[in-house]
Amino acid sequence: MTETNLPKHVAIIMDGNGRWAKKNALSVMLGHRKGVETLREIIRYSSNISIKVLSLYAFSTENWSRPKAEVNALMKLIVEYFTSEIDELDQNHVKIRILGDVDGLPPSAAEACRNAVNRTEHNKGLQLNIALNYGARDEILRGVNSLMMERCSGSKPFKEIVWEDFSNQLYTKGQPDVDLLIRTSGEQRLSNFLLCQCAYAEMVFPEVLWPEFTVDEYRKALQQYAGRERRFGGRTS
Ligand code: IPE
Ligand code: IPE
Ligand code: MG
Repeated sequence: MTETNLPKHVAIIMDGNGRWAKKNALSVMLGHRKGVETLREIIRYSSNISIKVLSLYAFSTENWSRPKAEVNALMKLIVEYFTSEIDELDQNHVKIRILGDVDGLPPSAAEACRNAVNRTEHNKGLQLNIALNYGARDEILRGVNSLMMERCSGSKPFKEIVWEDFSNQLYTKGQPDVDLLIRTSGEQRLSNFLLCQCAYAEMVFPEVLWPEFTVDEYRKALQQYAGRERRFGGRTS
C-alpha cells in the first residue's frame, strides 16, 4: 500500500459513539464497543502505510463528568482493550505512549496502560499515542509548573524559556507536531485536544460517526490532506 504525501502525525478525535448507539437503539456502551472495532482497523491501516505517529483521543479530562456507569464501563473497556490487543500491537512493532495523567485513572486501568507502554517500549514501528485522562490545558499547566519548579529550585539556570524547553514538557515530547487532525461525527471543535501540537495542523471533519468510520473514509481524509497547500505563515507563490 502506497499513499503519497502522507502526514507524519495523524491525530483523531474519535467522536460519535453515543449518537451511533442511539441511532441503532443500543446502549451507549455498545457504541463504545463498536468504536473499538473502528480503532483496531485504523491502527492496522496506519501501521501498514507507515504513518509515523497516530494520536487517538480516548478519554478527556472533561469526560469524568459523564454518568458514573458510563465512566466505569469505559475504564473497564480500556483494560479489556489492552488485554485483547496487546499481542497483535506488539507483533506489529507498535510502540504505545499514553498522553494524559495515568495516575488519575483507576488502578486497574493505570496498570493496563503501564504494562502496554513497558511491553512495547523498544518497538520501532507506528508510534501510537492514546490520550487518556488527557486535556491540553492540564498538559500546558503541568509543563509551566514543571519549568517554574526547575528554575526556582536552581536545578536549571534562571533564563528565558524558549519553545523547545516548553515542548519538551509536553506528553508528545520528541514527536513531530500534528499534521492532520481528523474529528468524526461532523463536530468541528478541538475539545481540549493537543492545542499546542495542532498549531499548524490541517483539519478534516468527516460527517460519519466514529463506529462507521471505515478505512475508506480514512483514506479520503488522507487524500484531502495530500491536496492541501501548507504555508506555515510563509508565501509559496
Ligand atoms: C466519543 O464518543 C468517545 C468518548 C468520548 C469516550 P461520544 O461518546 O462522545 O459520542 P457522542 O458525541 O455522544 O455521539
Ligand atoms: C472529545 O469528545 C473527547 C473524546 C473523543 C475522547 P467529546 O464528545 O467528549 O467532546 P464534546 O463534549 O462534544 O466537546
Ligand atoms: Mg462526543
